[in-house]
Amino acid sequence: MKILVIGSGGREHALALAMARDPSVTQVHAAPGNPGIGAVATLHPVDIDDRTQVASLAESLAVDLVVVGPEAPLVAGVADVVRAAGIACFGPGAAAAQIEGSKWFAKDVMASAGVPTAMAHVCDTEEQVVAALDAFGAPYVVKDDGLAAGKGVVVTRDREVALEHARGCRRVVVEEHLDGPEVSLFAVTDGQTVLPLQPVQDFKRIGDGDTGPNTGGMGAYTPLPWAPADLVADVHERVLVPTVREMERRGVPFTGLLYAGLALTSRGVRVIEFNARFGDPETQVLLALLDSSLGTLLHSAATGRLHEVAPPRFSPGAAVAVVVAAQGYPGTPRAGDVIGGLDAADALEGVDVIHAGTTSADDGSVRSSGGRVLAVTARGTDLAQARERAYAGVALVDLPGSQVRTDIALRAAEQDGAG
Ligand code: AMP
Ligand code: GLY
Repeated sequence: MKILVIGSGGREHALALAMARDPSVTQVHAAPGNPGIGAVATLHPVDIDDRTQVASLAESLAVDLVVVGPEAPLVAGVADVVRAAGIACFGPGAAAAQIEGSKWFAKDVMASAGVPTAMAHVCDTEEQVVAALDAFGAPYVVKDDGLAAGKGVVVTRDREVALEHARGCRRVVVEEHLDGPEVSLFAVTDGQTVLPLQPVQDFKRIGDGDTGPNTGGMGAYTPLPWAPADLVADVHERVLVPTVREMERRGVPFTGLLYAGLALTSRGVRVIEFNARFGDPETQVLLALLDSSLGTLLHSAATGRLHEVAPPRFSPGAAVAVVVAAQGYPGTPRAGDVIGGLDAADALEGVDVIHAGTTSADDGSVRSSGGRVLAVTARGTDLAQARERAYAGVALVDLPGSQVRTDIALRAAEQDGAG
């Protein structure tokens, strides 16, 4: 099977690496990719938000499957155009990708499907925002209705900060605040069959102890030793299946990866958000443990034959990913710094250095080119070992001014050891 991965981040590096290690995959291509992806795939410099460029590349390479990584090309309809060219594509079309592209659309789907989520008001004017903030009280949750690369949400006790964020957006959704730990649960679906993956926890804030502004994700681990045993079955039945059925009922069947961001509140599971694609850096840890064929799974989903494949299997150990972010992130990240120690870190047992914001310079060096620069991803027999290996890798990576959280998977590893 020949695969084309669309995107250039950490998630796409993890996908390309898993494909390259999959015996059912013969060739891996990527567009536009990054230096890490270039080590396991053939790179093609195309504009991935241009639907026709992606479809012509897929046709000229005669690939069996296109896997679209990021949300922007999905919302732009890349999957629709690839499918119209007769090529299997993993990822929803533009209409179904609105489950991520519009917070309000997602709320509407959840309301129709009876899926538990935070109460919310959509607001187009400042008066509406003020009324909604006062109705819910602090802490305030204000979300940009459109795509904002993980930075559209402000959670604050400061009413002025909440109002200021709303002023910077065209339309916002103001929500009830949900407490309790967060879990990311992904499901692969062909629009009918829904196969959940293992739950993951992501660390959204920039600073240790969940302080500072939200980011796209500073680290992740799986499995979750503290999660309720029936979590996956519960979310499958009450969230994933009803949502997929409701999308079908609306005439916008969802195929691809349905990402449920969940809060485990004292009153039960609530959906914080849906995404229409693999999460980053959650995908890094999930694929590090995936023990069945990724190519077969995604191809079956893209061709409506998911009922024919066995549910994905994961190795019994644990995986931890620690993100190395650039100075300035999540504001304006500094770019162009030489990154040292990549090969040494990658050579550690159980470790893969997954590239995100990196680029190859003319002098042969690898340099930073984005906010989240890379994720050191490690497998281990348990969370403590995976953590130790990931941080040993981080210690070898040399990026001036870099930001790293020191507490990724810390509490879970302690609980794991105690249990
Ligand atoms: P989102 O982009 O919707 O996932 O939001 C980003 C982050 O903001 C989430 O991972 C949560 O940490 C936080 N967040 C979003 N909505 C809520 C909510 N209703 N209550 C509490 N925290 C939230
Ligand atoms: N890790 C959060 C996301 O991918 O949206």
